[in-house]
Amino acid sequence: HAAEKGGYEHFMLKEMNEQPKTIRDTISPRIKDGRIVIDELGMSDEEIRNINRIHIVACGSAYHTGFTSKYIFEGMARIPVEVDVASEFRYRNPILEDGALVIIISQSGETADSLAALRMAKERGVKTLGIVNVVGSSIAREADKVMYTWAGPEIAVATTKAYSAQLVAQYLLAIKFAQVRGKVTEAEVGEMLRDLKKLPDQVEMLLSHKEKIQKFANRFIAAKDIFFIGRGIDYAISMEGSLKLKEISYIHSEAYAAGELKHGTISLIEDGTPVVAVATQDALLKKTISNIVEVKTRGAFVMAVTNEGNTEIEKTADYVIYIPQTNAYFANSLAIIPLQLFSYYVAVGKGCDVDKPRNLAKSVTVE
Ligand code: G6P
Repeated sequence: HAAEKGGYEHFMLKEMNEQPKTIRDTISPRIKDGRIVIDELGMSDEEIRNINRIHIVACGSAYHTGFTSKYIFEGMARIPVEVDVASEFRYRNPILEDGALVIIISQSGETADSLAALRMAKERGVKTLGIVNVVGSSIAREADKVMYTWAGPEIAVATTKAYSAQLVAQYLLAIKFAQVRGKVTEAEVGEMLRDLKKLPDQVEMLLSHKEKIQKFANRFIAAKDIFFIGRGIDYAISMEGSLKLKEISYIHSEAYAAGELKHGTISLIEDGTPVVAVATQDALLKKTISNIVEVKTRGAFVMAVTNEGNTEIEKTADYVIYIPQTNAYFANSLAIIPLQLFSYYVAVGKGCDVDKPRNLAKSVTVE
């Protein structure tokens, strides 16, 4: 196995380090002469204009990418989006009308609930699109159309590179839809494409700071609970950061919409409780900072992830990780990197079986 891990101690670390390539490979074949071309979508501009609702259906981390892109499809392309975990969607008798597009996101393409949700959507006669990593998998074969993420084989149970590829695939789709529907200007598209192309190098840079995060992570090995807070896309990032941590380190952790804290979770904050605050959305920065103050007042130890330049956060947070500037819609792709590294090093520090956490499977093919 040592050879397969390419010199890394774990597949997870190897796969985290493959993310710059994964992102590049998923984006670059779909940008031609400064335009987004997603031939496999097989949809005319007319059909794209007629989409009146998107349903994103997935499980686990794939669901978190959909939760992120809801903000993007709605914010940028102004298409209403519903996001469901597949095991809920398939049993809730959703309203699927003409003009709906059901997007199923899955690394393996074999997750039982996601496949069942796809089959239900097809039976109900709506258009389906799979965003899938494994070529020729069940979801890839059965969806009307398939957009592949080019992450290559992923071995570690906790997904990292497939997650990153799913995110950028959805950015491309959202920009394409926004453009066809006249919701963004050519200049805005040009700027977003430039930001997209910068992501691989920015991710590379964040990965290169791993020793710093390792040192910091070692302080959390004895933690019993960790809370992740954020607003908007930062809430979506928090959900994935929290899932990564709990699945591999077995530390109880919860993600909370920062503004919702005072309706419950804040009662759990005690002296020294670690809180990870994600604050990449500049429009929400002040609001999130006030939530950081709330938990600090109750004794929390706060690690913040924010954009370069937001140094005022240092007045409240105990430890700050900066991510480089990008379009606010793409922040998840950068902010998740330190959170993946953090989870990884906490789990390694605790001596956990990082690549094969107890009770979890890479691909859940039973309901
Ligand atoms: C399992 C994996 C997760 C993954 C989820 C959905 O729970 O451990 O990492 O996000 O299944 O898998 P899929 O293959 O459908 O993306």
